Amino acid sequence: MCGIVGIIGHTPVAPLIVDALKRLEYRGYDSAGVATIEGGALDRRRAEGKLVNLEQRIGEAPLGGLIGIGHTRWATHGVPNETNAHPHFSRDVAIVHNGIIENFAELRDELAADGYEFASQTDTEVVAHLIAREIDRGAAPVDAAHKALSRLEGAFALAIMFRGDDDLLIGARNGPPLAVGHGDGEMFLGSDAIALAPFTDSITYLEDGDWVVIRRKELRIFDMAGNPVERARQKSVGTSYLVDKGNHRHFMQKEIFEQPEVISHTLAHYLDFSAGTARDMAMPFDFANMDRLAISACGTAYLAGLISKYWFERIARLPVDIDIASEFRYREAPMNGRMGAMFISQSGETADTLASLRYCRDNNVPIASIVNVPESTIGRESNGVFPTLAGPEIGVASTKAFTCQLSVLASLAVRAARQRGHISAEREKTLVRELSEAPRFASQVLHLDDQIEKVARELSQVRHVLYLGRDTNFPLAMEGALKLKEISYIHAEGYAAGELKHGPIALIDETMPVIVIAPHDRIFEKTVSNMQEVAARGGRIILITDKRGADKATVDTLETIVLPDMPEIIAPIIYALPIQMLAYHTAVHMGTDVDQPRNLAKSVTVE
Ligand code: AGP
Repeated sequence: MCGIVGIIGHTPVAPLIVDALKRLEYRGYDSAGVATIEGGALDRRRAEGKLVNLEQRIGEAPLGGLIGIGHTRWATHGVPNETNAHPHFSRDVAIVHNGIIENFAELRDELAADGYEFASQTDTEVVAHLIAREIDRGAAPVDAAHKALSRLEGAFALAIMFRGDDDLLIGARNGPPLAVGHGDGEMFLGSDAIALAPFTDSITYLEDGDWVVIRRKELRIFDMAGNPVERARQKSVGTSYLVDKGNHRHFMQKEIFEQPEVISHTLAHYLDFSAGTARDMAMPFDFANMDRLAISACGTAYLAGLISKYWFERIARLPVDIDIASEFRYREAPMNGRMGAMFISQSGETADTLASLRYCRDNNVPIASIVNVPESTIGRESNGVFPTLAGPEIGVASTKAFTCQLSVLASLAVRAARQRGHISAEREKTLVRELSEAPRFASQVLHLDDQIEKVARELSQVRHVLYLGRDTNFPLAMEGALKLKEISYIHAEGYAAGELKHGPIALIDETMPVIVIAPHDRIFEKTVSNMQEVAARGGRIILITDKRGADKATVDTLETIVLPDMPEIIAPIIYALPIQMLAYHTAVHMGTDVDQPRNLAKSVTVE
């Protein structure tokens, strides 16, 4: 969950590297650093905390040089301070790293016994000393790097350079992503194409086990055995989006307000609104000949998958097994040829989700992925990719990606229902028309922002919140709790409303706001009973419902947020917006770092 950059240029690289790191800061921001080579000398600037601190450090003591590497850190080993900040040095070697070296302790002991002194607590420094030791033993830099790489166990994306050679960068990838950018007489390395967007859109994505030797006019790619390999050079989509906040205070707010637009893009990609059908796009599996669909993801993406279970099973009569990826990857689930597998991931790089994908691939199950970055590892290792078309999502808390994931999943559920013969052409037309209304309803709901901001003031005064929902509102209750806790640091839990009496009701008193997500549907009355149980114990209810629900909710509430009546199939997509807005405004009132909350990173590329 760090960001790494390397540049061999023909102008001073330090400011370029800092610019690239800004585009990677969403991957981690505990510390940052840049190293360059000028006149054969290796030098670096590092700073704890946000990138602005590093910029200030470089402003005070500029760095020259036409070759450099940079890093923005999410700490895995060692506290986030300047000593542990990358780049790390050993003799003539400078290195930046994203990932976890799992055998670092053993290697550290071996190197210390050989007299190599450690300045930091990081696993990364071990790699620098490993390479230095190979050079001390007589190996040339490239061979030294290759020998060192073969000792590493675990996940790594690396950029390495050597004192005295300002025309050599080495990169390596095993797990976390790494891309090579092709310039005009200059070359780049970066964690993703967005980092390299200001320099080039001509990108080569490395695969696991690849390592590269880069010079200004040369790129050689090898596998870990040292055999040359070819990798496609392609045009990146990363350059086609402007990544800035516009007139919003935070990326998260911008991304919440982009949802009507991006939801419409996504739905239009999967549905033919004029024909009233789900588009016939290439599928890695046949829904009609499938007994079960296995879905696996993490965090918010997992909750999108959980909502889709209701859709696939109710509309398409297709049984769905839904798993949190970190559990699925070790569960040894039985798989067979009558199954399909689907993985949901905004970044397309989440380690647990990728490992779950590889489990299914090893069991010969056809794989589809729903990703916001089609050229990501998960995308490239799938048999079929369904892009979410949400555009870069910079805020660590996932918002527009979630509603676009739901838009894709709802469209696929309609497609599956038709293919499996469970809906008529007329019913398909109705569902497609109803889905086509989602952007309009999303726009309407965004007008509730002021009311929701007022409710958020109340929430910012408490330390615990309970979210309740039934059916597809149960995963939404968990998503609301996840949004709130991850950006406001208020403890929150999402529960199936029907579970209240099985324990959580013990929590209810006047200090515990209960947020109930309940559009008026066929089980609404059941949720009203739950609200009465809460009210009878002094609980303060915030009800998110529609006009019919507001009329029939026979309990006093602290606040009722009334959404327009809407078709049932789009309710989970649209009801996501008020819970996002509630979390956003609460975090703003709490004064937390909304876009880069503590301890988190946008893409969890390690276990
Ligand atoms: C969502 O708000 C969180 N930031 C987090 O749970 C995220 O959804 C999860 O880490 C999965 O990420 P992915 O979609 O990139 O795989």
